[in-house]
Amino acid sequence: MSPEKQRLWWERQDLGYQDGHLFFSGTPVTDLIGLTSTPAFFYNGKRIVENIGRLHDALAQLDGHKIFYAIKANRFAPLLTHVKARGNCGVDVCSPNELLHAFSCGFKGSEISYTANSMTDRELKLLADNPDVLLNCDSLSTIRRLGRFCSRRNIGIRVNPAMGIGYRDNETLKYSGDKTTKFGIYKEQFAQALKLAADNNFTVDTIHFHTGCGYLNTQLPLFNQILDATHWFLDQVEDLAFVNLGGGLGVPHDADDHALNLDDWVSVINAHFKGRGLTVCVEPGDYIAKDAGILVLSVNTVEKKRHTDFVGVNGGFNLAIEPFFYGLPCEPVVLKKKTDHMKPVTIVGNINESLDVWKDNFPMPDQIKEGDPLVFINAGGYASSMMSNHCMRGQVSENLMI
Ligand SMILES: Cc1ncc(COP(=O)(O)O)c(C=O)c1O
Repeated sequence: MSPEKQRLWWERQDLGYQDGHLFFSGTPVTDLIGLTSTPAFFYNGKRIVENIGRLHDALAQLDGHKIFYAIKANRFAPLLTHVKARGNCGVDVCSPNELLHAFSCGFKGSEISYTANSMTDRELKLLADNPDVLLNCDSLSTIRRLGRFCSRRNIGIRVNPAMGIGYRDNETLKYSGDKTTKFGIYKEQFAQALKLAADNNFTVDTIHFHTGCGYLNTQLPLFNQILDATHWFLDQVEDLAFVNLGGGLGVPHDADDHALNLDDWVSVINAHFKGRGLTVCVEPGDYIAKDAGILVLSVNTVEKKRHTDFVGVNGGFNLAIEPFFYGLPCEPVVLKKKTDHMKPVTIVGNINESLDVWKDNFPMPDQIKEGDPLVFINAGGYASSMMSNHCMRGQVSENLMI
């Protein structure tokens, strides 16, 4: 195959080069930019529905399953109403504002799973007033204080199996592990949690855990061990109907990653829960939204300083924080397929912070020039939703293609 025809690791049907020009969601990216200015996020609604559909297909092997899309990954209202209309799934929320937002986008209480931490009394009252919302309590204090506002409610308990998982074993992406974390109730306090629930006439129908983000196939043996560790909790709950495995399913971030094999993933789940009469719930954010979005920026500065060729763009870590905070690889992509003439450059944003470096020493076409657009892929999850207005550079448009 000629280099022209070779597909890059991130190319797929709805994202890639056609005749040398970058297309996203069936449209040349140049045309997308023509509709708005940069910085701009574009989301492919079809890809989001496909990602959910792939999960449904895989999970169909189980006795019963439910998917709750974690809207903390991307809460853009048109995207949520699209998921409501086409996704055949519920949503996972983690704050009163996310709950009200989910309602306003059409989700009913029974389609919403709520898992938060450090909850206020007002928040608990809101949950007491909405008994259909599936609430997972992550601390003794939550269960105790919820009892002030209601009784006879169904609740879930978020547990902490003291093991964590994350993209390439990245410790900062783990929610539980050797270090004691705030997330969920540990073994030592579980009996107390069940007693508090019983004292308030709560029925515990769900065991919930979310132990980290971004895992791929190489982490499945660890995922298996984590599921193993959760049986201790499950076995003690009489009225258990649901086991919620949280989110955490990852997507490839660079050429060394392979997509998570959902059949392998479901086999691990099946080995633990088949035949137990439980509905298995999952609440992925990244897996559904991340690869369905791109961030388009514009190059405004091309300049050599000492021995480094800098490429400055009109957006920084305030628009997509994960590569900077978690060190997740991110891929800059040019609108015209790269030529053989490449040079290593350092791509920097427009925020006055030393960590505002998108890429160090990254090969880019040596003809890159001021005024050229530059696209960052995998910008559909945890980019706009975590955005800040630092340096008052938070103006960006969000656009959903359906
Ligand atoms: C409780 C809970 N569920 C689901 C998610 C979604 O995780 P991910 O986007 O990695 O699938 C998170 C992420 O922080 C979470 O805290």
